[in-house]
Amino acid sequence: MRTLLTGGAGFIGSNMAVELLSLGRNVTILDNFYTGDRNNIPPGVEVIHKSCEDFTTKDKFDEIYHLGVYSSSPQYKRNPKLCGAAINGMITILEIARQSNCPVVFASSSSLYSELEPPHKEDMIIKVTDYYTEARLSMERMAELYNRLYGVKSAAMRFFSVYGPNERAKGEFANILTQFLWLMQKNERPAIFGDGKQTRDFTHVKDAVHACMTAMNGLKENKFQREIFNVGTGIETSFNDVVGALNRVLGTNIQAEHKENAVKNYVARTKADTRKSENILGFKAKIMLIDGINRLVKDYPVE
Ligand SMILES: NC(=O)c1ccc[n+]([C@@H]2O[C@H](COP(=O)([O-])OP(=O)(O)OC[C@H]3O[C@@H](n4cnc5c(N)ncnc54)[C@H](O)[C@@H]3O)[C@@H](O)[C@H]2O)c1
Repeated sequence: MRTLLTGGAGFIGSNMAVELLSLGRNVTILDNFYTGDRNNIPPGVEVIHKSCEDFTTKDKFDEIYHLGVYSSSPQYKRNPKLCGAAINGMITILEIARQSNCPVVFASSSSLYSELEPPHKEDMIIKVTDYYTEARLSMERMAELYNRLYGVKSAAMRFFSVYGPNERAKGEFANILTQFLWLMQKNERPAIFGDGKQTRDFTHVKDAVHACMTAMNGLKENKFQREIFNVGTGIETSFNDVVGALNRVLGTNIQAEHKENAVKNYVARTKADTRKSENILGFKAKIMLIDGINRLVKDYPVE
């Protein structure tokens, strides 16, 4: 079975590549290394170094996972044309899916729920708050259009704050939980904007990968033709509690440094409504925060 995996040099993509190889898939990674890292890529895959938006092929695939999209809001703020590139990348992938007659599972984001009160549900009316959310919403709409026009089957995965191994290359864009761990391992104080009561629904990458694969199976089995799914735990944790949990696991007593919030459109809370993913996909996240932090400490041993 031939799999096209975009963004396979990145954090979630490289974890996905490992799982796909373990299932015996023939994996082709398409990545432009914007935030990806060759060291993340497991041996045994074909690698094409190119941007999705510039990619052309006559090859056919059996399944496509599209995670190769500029991954953080500040990247788009610095270069708004990434928004167009992300949409063109999506069109390229949908065209390949059309010529291959295969389903697409692609990365969307919980950022679409910015300014909406949790729990966040897939059918909420989205408010576009920045270039990044515009790109994601357009990608979801493009998937809808390709399904309507050509019957291309797809699943948009709205990931909620994913963390886990292979985040190093993301640097300042890595998950806040992972960044806090890296600092606290060096006995440094993590900085929190405001009072620390802001929350995120933290999702382990193993669960995120599992959700994507479950969605792919659902598409192949014709359980659905095109859907949007939340990928979260349904539990929100405040940044103060994250620091507390890290202290407990690390055996430290480091206090966060609270700073004035300079970020406009700052997301106050995220929490997935998980019912649709549970009901249609049968997906339920298994790795809760303390378990996830214990794994994270092993993933990033102190050098
Ligand atoms: N990690 C999270 O918490 C989270 C949350 C919501 C959505 N997402 C989305 O999931 C996807 C994967 O995220 P990640 O955390 O692994 O980020 P990442 O930055 O580690 O991975 C993205 C990968 O795609 C590559 N890439 C970016 N633009 C590309 C393009 N135009 N053509 C080809 N390759 C390109 C990058 O080089 C990188 O390897 C992204 O689309 C991201 O926006 C992630």
